[in-house]
Amino acid sequence: MQSNNRASEIAELLKQQAGLMRVGEKLPSVRELSKTYGASPVTVTQAITLLSALGVVRAEPGRGTFVAGRDLPAEPDYAWQSQALGRTRVDAGRAGRLGSPGTAEQVQLSWGYLAPELQPFDELRTLGARCAKSHRAWTMAPPMGLPELRRAFASQLDAEAGDVLIMPGGQQSLVFAMRTLADPGSTIITESPSYPGATIAAQSAGLNIAAVPADADGIIPEKLAEALERTHAKLIYLQPYCTNPTGAVLSPERRVEVLALAKAHGAFIIEDDWARNLSLDGAAPPPLFTQDPDGHVVHIATLTKPAAPGLRVGALAARGPAGERLRTARIADDMCVPPLTQEIALGLLGSSAWPRHLKRLRKGLLERRDAMVAEVLATMPGARVPIVPAGGIHLWVKLPAGSGSTALTAAANAAGVLIGDGRHYYVDEPTAPFIRLSYSAASIQQIQAGVRRVAALM
Ligand SMILES: Cc1ncc(COP(=O)(O)O)c(C=O)c1O
Repeated sequence: MQSNNRASEIAELLKQQAGLMRVGEKLPSVRELSKTYGASPVTVTQAITLLSALGVVRAEPGRGTFVAGRDLPAEPDYAWQSQALGRTRVDAGRAGRLGSPGTAEQVQLSWGYLAPELQPFDELRTLGARCAKSHRAWTMAPPMGLPELRRAFASQLDAEAGDVLIMPGGQQSLVFAMRTLADPGSTIITESPSYPGATIAAQSAGLNIAAVPADADGIIPEKLAEALERTHAKLIYLQPYCTNPTGAVLSPERRVEVLALAKAHGAFIIEDDWARNLSLDGAAPPPLFTQDPDGHVVHIATLTKPAAPGLRVGALAARGPAGERLRTARIADDMCVPPLTQEIALGLLGSSAWPRHLKRLRKGLLERRDAMVAEVLATMPGARVPIVPAGGIHLWVKLPAGSGSTALTAAANAAGVLIGDGRHYYVDEPTAPFIRLSYSAASIQQIQAGVRRVAALM
């Protein structure tokens, strides 16, 4: 044992020595090395054998030991792939900006998830440990999701549990719905500006995107009608409650008009209801899904936003043959959402800790939103906040005319403050310079300091 350790030590030293020599150069003899390292010839020979096995040296009986050639791995040649792959679908610029939480040194005013202190971490930890002990967590769940969890999501929608499909979060639900409900090459209408993740989901599904303007009351029905006429689109992507990035809420009148347009044109509305549990001023209006008996609305819910980004559980609800088609297609993508995650989500939604968490979360987000609005108005010269969001986590800030949102975002980034360049929320050219500031991932002090730092760069 002793001599093996010593041999390893000598091997390490010899490796360093060989690293300083040229390939093919001869190492000192075993006798000389024994003297140098104060070890027996047997131990030195063991060290050389070790290094030969690793390809560091080459021992030639009767001639000595030489530094072995280091064969550099051939450079891989990926050139063929460019031809095989054809045109890229997903816009790398938009995709690269999603999902990154930044570093501890950066002030995060651009991430669409909760700061750790706002997450129900204690409950998740306890539930995680408890659920992991059950065999249920490690077997296969039904492809549509755990029946109890489907019921839990359905109860929020006045839907049948059979209409609900458990999904690994909102993003996957978006791309899955777009891919399953429309053919590649067809058109999807989105309100503008809108969530860049929906843009890349549509790109990934091979859809063309037609952007329709929206104002503080949501998508403009006359413009939607024009776009439906012009494009014959059968899919409309909307966030009726607190659009990311603007905070717009589709007004009661427009909800009726938009549903009537979907009906008249035989189109689906993908309702991305990500902000439902993030209402700040009063309760959120009921999901659009509940106003539509005829299966036009396909509803998407997620727990990543009000709980934790890693709790990748959401739900997709759809009625009629579209629901049938989505449920059939699901298994082609994925056997099931991991049962452990579903068990944790079920435990969370059913516990008394959930309403307590939502109450605490609301307070935390309200304080942050108000602090951010106040700081922006006090420190950013000429900036406007068109909508103080009634829910959600984003503030859409209009910069003075002539400002460059991209340059400001880059400068803020360099100064350690991550913000969203408004340009990325438009499919085409932005109508004015905007930045998106998110208040969920930073503390109040960070929000104030971060906004001041950005203001100083304007
Ligand atoms: C509007 C909107 N929809 C969907 C998602 C995707 O959320 P998830 O984390 O559940 O995939 C996001 C995430 O940023 C979002 O902002």
